[in-house]
Amino acid sequence: MTTSTLTPEAISYVCTTVRQRSAIELDISKTYLIEARLAPVAKQNGFASIDELIQAVKAKRKLGLESQLVEAMTTNETSFFRDLHPFEALRKTLLPEIRTKNAARKSLNIWSAACSTGQEIYSVAMHLREHFPELASWKVQLVGTDLSDEVLAKAKAAKFSQIEVNRGLPAALLVKNFQRQGMLWELRPEIRNMATFTKLNLIERWPVLPCMDIVFLRNVLIYFAPETKRMILENIRKVMAPRGVLFLGAAETTMGLDAAFERIQSDNSVFYRLK
Ligand SMILES: C[S@@+](CC[C@H](N)C(=O)[O-])C[C@H]1O[C@@H](n2cnc3c(N)ncnc32)[C@H](O)[C@@H]1O
Repeated sequence: MTTSTLTPEAISYVCTTVRQRSAIELDISKTYLIEARLAPVAKQNGFASIDELIQAVKAKRKLGLESQLVEAMTTNETSFFRDLHPFEALRKTLLPEIRTKNAARKSLNIWSAACSTGQEIYSVAMHLREHFPELASWKVQLVGTDLSDEVLAKAKAAKFSQIEVNRGLPAALLVKNFQRQGMLWELRPEIRNMATFTKLNLIERWPVLPCMDIVFLRNVLIYFAPETKRMILENIRKVMAPRGVLFLGAAETTMGLDAAFERIQSDNSVFYRLK
């Protein structure tokens, strides 16, 4: 068994900073994770140890260092067409419904809040192109937001490794929508340009957003305390269209947090609709 080189005070400082800046809940039981995530940040910034890194963050010795520490503690796990069911619900039920509901104004807005490296919103873009080509004449806004500058830069670049495209992306969609660039697969501009990416910290002031027909808020609430989840769900409601739809991750729910949403089970999919 390895023992931690970090003092309880240093761990507590990291937990408090990460909670204040991102709402992500960490505690001493996550010491191994803190060490594994912060060791590369210390090295990249020329510190001999994580402890030195923490001292430098405390003393505000380097601009952006605190953000690097916070971002290192986020989990950016994502994949194309993750869980599949939400995309089936979009194709079978939700997009046909919105196509009728929004026919007069010809607009559709979808938000991937906590979008990580972009696979979620790009999956939506490919899905729209594949199954709803008639919406190409609509004003479609696909917005990806995240707290982390690093993942947003990768999302905007829209270049993915072989491993990343192997996870969830059907071969036919890979061939159709990506071009090979050295070791990477680059999304073709016609799909890439359908999405825009903006920095948005869910617990800070939000930039102005269009009124959203569908919101993906998947696999991020799990990291937050109940009162933070409540506050975020309430704010999400304010930017949603009447009867708008919210997708959460498989381990997440609005139940017991926000009574304004009703849980809908449709085939294998679960989504939450504003009452
Ligand atoms: C596990 S990923 C989820 C990606 C995608 N939604 C999915 O389900 O595949 C969680 C993302 O939440 C972001 N995140 C964590 N705290 C956040 C906050 N306070 N505001 C905005 N994004 C946050 C992280 O940077 C990370 O990219």
